[in-house]
Amino acid sequence: MEQIQIIDSKNHVGETVKIGAWVANKRSSGKIAFLQLRDGTAYFQGIVVKSEVEEEVFQLAKGLNQETAVLITGEVREDTRSKFGYEIGITGIEVVGESHDYPITPKEHGTDFLMDHRHLWLRSSKQHAVMQVRNEIIRATYEFFNTNGFVKIDPPILTGSAPEGTTELFHTNYFDEEAYLSQSGQLYMEAAAMAFGKVFSFGPTFRAEKSKTRRHLIEFWMIEPEMAFMHQEDSLEVQEKYVAFLVQNVLDNCDYALDVLGRDKELLKKYTNLPFPRITYDDAVELLKKNGFEDIEWGDDFGSPHETFIANSFEQPVFILNYPKAIKPFYMKPHPTREDVVICADMIAPEGYGEIIGGSERATDYEFVLEQIRQHGLDEKEYSWYLDLRKYGSVPHSGFGLGLERTVTWLTGIEHVRESIPFPRLLNRLYP
Ligand code: 4AD
Ligand code: MG
Repeated sequence: MEQIQIIDSKNHVGETVKIGAWVANKRSSGKIAFLQLRDGTAYFQGIVVKSEVEEEVFQLAKGLNQETAVLITGEVREDTRSKFGYEIGITGIEVVGESHDYPITPKEHGTDFLMDHRHLWLRSSKQHAVMQVRNEIIRATYEFFNTNGFVKIDPPILTGSAPEGTTELFHTNYFDEEAYLSQSGQLYMEAAAMAFGKVFSFGPTFRAEKSKTRRHLIEFWMIEPEMAFMHQEDSLEVQEKYVAFLVQNVLDNCDYALDVLGRDKELLKKYTNLPFPRITYDDAVELLKKNGFEDIEWGDDFGSPHETFIANSFEQPVFILNYPKAIKPFYMKPHPTREDVVICADMIAPEGYGEIIGGSERATDYEFVLEQIRQHGLDEKEYSWYLDLRKYGSVPHSGFGLGLERTVTWLTGIEHVRESIPFPRLLNRLYP
């Protein structure tokens, strides 16, 4: 007898198979028991009819606790009433691992309780759906960059540099030296772009931010493409194509997960329309002022109410271009005719999900970059290798970073970024 996974049921209709699964839920009467089964690939229903099986099997089914691991034998059938479309008529059950007093029950639990049980909470259908969307975004990311001629390069996690400013660094000892956990691989990706042309990284990054918002994680995953001989306008095109590609692939390949999450697919479809709108920082400030935001002045960074208002003025993700130099990192290219702004853009997701991409064209002039490093109070010696990139064949280049978890949160339509990563690291959470 073949052992199959639930997801492959469609290929085994009418066959008697074995399935290893957990009992997610159970209902029974005197004559019939319904087991909600999950094996990690999908959920479906197992049915035990008292009159059709040995008495022992029926009694066993009736007594199964939530999350008991079982080996089920039975016949796969079509089930037109369920969204999944298939079920199993059970003839045999073997208990593999017992489960008693499973802490997560179908009743409502508080978020702290669920977060403390994250190692178990991951088994529930909504969390499962979120992780499937996350997996699809990861898969589609590799497909996009592989088919567009990018080489994957892995920057180090332990570093001595601080591209995004020194306030949010995770300090650690590196034998006798001080080191940080990487807050961005960008500087290394710039070196890689000079060696390979078009490159991307995909790895964990760390921000020791004391912020407790629904958008901030301490450890998050970032995709950082970097492209040699490329100006900002062309980089924006890569960015919007990439994001539209992610949305389209989630629509194509995560239909069931989106249903579980109750996500509006028509709305998602709109996010595949290109190009995405662009608005300058200057115009964004004007727009906010005109609409009653009295707290914003030219030169301020946007907070989430500002970003949400700007995003709501458009139907797709929107690029905000050319922020004030004073609020952006040292490496950005100065504007050709204005001293106060730099050539950069943030992509703001719709529906209040905030910034999902930060990117820019990079400064190429040796003297300018050196001056910026000094002005930002960074240690010149640490950046000597970075300055070499401006000494030996410096070329226009641009890149960006997309936050994986912000993107998962947006596309799944969940409330909080903490549910977009298997084991979130938050300001007050290192467990589990
Ligand atoms: O805007 P950021 O800080 O940009 C960089 O790190 C650049 N070096 C990227 C580059 O040009 N190569 O971060 C980029 C993205 C943000 O837009 C956001 O999506 C995500 O990373 N991000 C976070 N996600 C979750 N929690 C946090 N604390 C985040 N900080 C940034
Ligand atoms: Mg940013």
